[in-house]
Amino acid sequence: MEEAQLLDGRYVAGQIHRETMEAVQRLRRKGILPCVVFIRVGNHPPSELYVRMKQKKAQEVGIQSEVISFPEDVSQKEVLDNLNRLNLDPSIHGILVQLPLPSHLSEKQIALAINPKKDIDGFHPLNLGKMLLGEKDCFYPCTPLGIQELLKRYKIEIEGKEVVILGRSNIVGKPLAALFLQKSKYANATVTVVHSFSQNIKEHCRQADILIAAMGKARFVTRDFVKPKAVVVDVGVSRIADSSSPQGYRIVGDVDFDEIKKIASWITPNPGGVGPMTIAMLLANTVKAAELSQP
Ligand SMILES: NC(=O)c1ccc[n+]([C@@H]2O[C@H](COP(=O)([O-])OP(=O)(O)OC[C@H]3O[C@@H](n4cnc5c(N)ncnc54)[C@H](OP(=O)(O)O)[C@@H]3O)[C@@H](O)[C@H]2O)c1
Repeated sequence: MEEAQLLDGRYVAGQIHRETMEAVQRLRRKGILPCVVFIRVGNHPPSELYVRMKQKKAQEVGIQSEVISFPEDVSQKEVLDNLNRLNLDPSIHGILVQLPLPSHLSEKQIALAINPKKDIDGFHPLNLGKMLLGEKDCFYPCTPLGIQELLKRYKIEIEGKEVVILGRSNIVGKPLAALFLQKSKYANATVTVVHSFSQNIKEHCRQADILIAAMGKARFVTRDFVKPKAVVVDVGVSRIADSSSPQGYRIVGDVDFDEIKKIASWITPNPGGVGPMTIAMLLANTVKAAELSQP
C-alpha cells in the first residue's frame, strides 16, 4: 500500500500569506494600514513564542502590529480598560489576547470585552453564534478555519463524508463541528464529536473518512483508530521528553504519524500541518477586519 500524501500546512500557509500580502497592498493603496494588537499576560514561554511567531508573520505580510505585555498579576480591570481603549481606536483592526491567561483573570469576560468587529480569533460569543448560523460577516476561529481551508486547497471532498472530531473544546472541536455541518460548500459532512465521556472511541474513529484529532494527548491515535485510506488531521501539540534535543523535549501531535501514514490517504505532518494554517487564517482575518471596518 502506498504511503499517505502530505497535507502540507506550511506550503498552503505560504500561499495564503502571499494572498494576504496582496490584500494588504490593495488596502494600503486606499490609505488603510491593517493593524493588529497582541496582548500577552505573564511569563508563559509557549505564549511568548506564539506571539513572536504571529508578530513576525504579520510583519512579513505588511500588517502593522503591536504587542502589549502585562505582568502576571495584572488586574482584570487593567486588561479590560486597555481593551476598551483598543476597541475605540479606529487605527486598530484586530485584537488578540493570547491564551491561556492566569487563573485570576476571566477568559470569558475578556473574550466578551473585545469588540466583535476586531475579534480576529473568532472567540466572541457573537462571532461563534454567527458562525453557527452560517453567516459570513463575522470571524471564525482560526484553527477550524485553517483545517477547512487546508482540506479545500488539497481538493479533499468533505461533502457527504463521515467526519469524526476527537475533542470538543470551544476553540477547536465545537467550532470545527459547526463548520463542517454547515449546509454549504466544503462542508455538508456528517459530523461526530467524541470526548472524554464518549464510549467506543476507537469504533467511532474507524468510521471516519476524515479523522481530526484535537485532544492534546501525545500519539493517542494509533493505527487501529484509522480506516484505511482515511484523511487524518492532527491538531494536537504535546511536549515529550527527548534527551537528544537541546531543549530536552520535542513536540508531537495526537497522531502516531509514522504508523498512520502507512494506511491513511492524506495526513498532516505535525509540526507543519495545522499550526501554520492557524497563523495564516489569523492574518487573513485581520485583513478581513480592516476591509469590514470601511464604511
Ligand atoms: N496547531 C494549532 O494551531 C493548535 C490550535 C489550538 C489547539 N492546538 C492543540 O490542540 C490540542 C487540543 O486543544 P484544545 O484547546 O482543543 O484542548 P482542550 O481544551 O484541552 O480540549 C481537549 C479535548 O479533548 C478531549 N479529550 C482529552 N482526553 C481525551 C481522551 N482520553 N478521550 C477522549 N477525549 C479526550 C477533552 O474532552 P472533555 O471535553 O470531555 O474534557 C476535550 O474536549 C492541544 O494539544 C492544543 O495545544 C493546536
